[in-house]
Amino acid sequence: MAQDLAGETVLITAGPTHEPIDPVRYLSNRSSGRMGYALAEAALRRGAKVILVSGPTALQPPAAAETIFVETAQQMRTAVLDRWEQASFIIMAAAVADYHVKNISPEKIKRKAALELQLEPNPDILADLGSLRHATGKRSPVLIGFAAETEDLLENARSKLTRKRVDAIVVNDVARTGIGFDSGRNEVTIVTPSEVMAVPEAGKLEIAQKILEAALRIRQQQVAPVPASTSSADL
Ligand code: CTP
Repeated sequence: MAQDLAGETVLITAGPTHEPIDPVRYLSNRSSGRMGYALAEAALRRGAKVILVSGPTALQPPAAAETIFVETAQQMRTAVLDRWEQASFIIMAAAVADYHVKNISPEKIKRKAALELQLEPNPDILADLGSLRHATGKRSPVLIGFAAETEDLLENARSKLTRKRVDAIVVNDVARTGIGFDSGRNEVTIVTPSEVMAVPEAGKLEIAQKILEAALRIRQQQVAPVPASTSSADL
């Protein structure tokens, strides 16, 4: 395996988040964490230092990764913001819950006729990183997000790309059965501002390698010399 990530630090988020309702219940989603863990393994094999910020999963993280376990989106955000400046590549594979419960009950909620949960939006960690990077005026680190779509895949991915100011969006078609969430296999489309790359169905480790190859290509394009005819206003 080419050691083309030697000397690089890759920060990866993985898994779902758990947003507590009371001491024994939470809101979450079907993410198994396998895609993020496969990315961590793949990056290690290419020689990278890996920081894995993981929501709750049943998986064993690669021993060589520095793994930070979190539960909520807020904890994931703190863990990522504390470390993002160390990274040359950031890949956000976590399926972060969009909402947290505002009225968390300190006691276990007893069964009653009806129960109202007040949900508040969680911070968007990927968009926050996109803005932070934009504010520094730098293109580094390479920033890649995921999107789970059931319809208008490319259109939605392109809009996320711009809205979150990221370099690429890896789109999962979650309407397809047998791949994606909770499966060892996946099929994705990697969307950048200039390219659409279809990655055919394969095991998640193989898909992870393709995503890393795309990340390396993005980095090469970023450091490529600017053609003499391009004015600085285009940068
Ligand atoms: N993400 C994040 N923080 C959030 C929500 C999402 O960092 N609070 C990241 C995820 O890790 C992923 C990407 O943003 O990389 C997913 O974006 P999102 O807008 O949640 O996409 P979908 O899951 O496709 O959901 P929707 O289209 O409903 O917005």
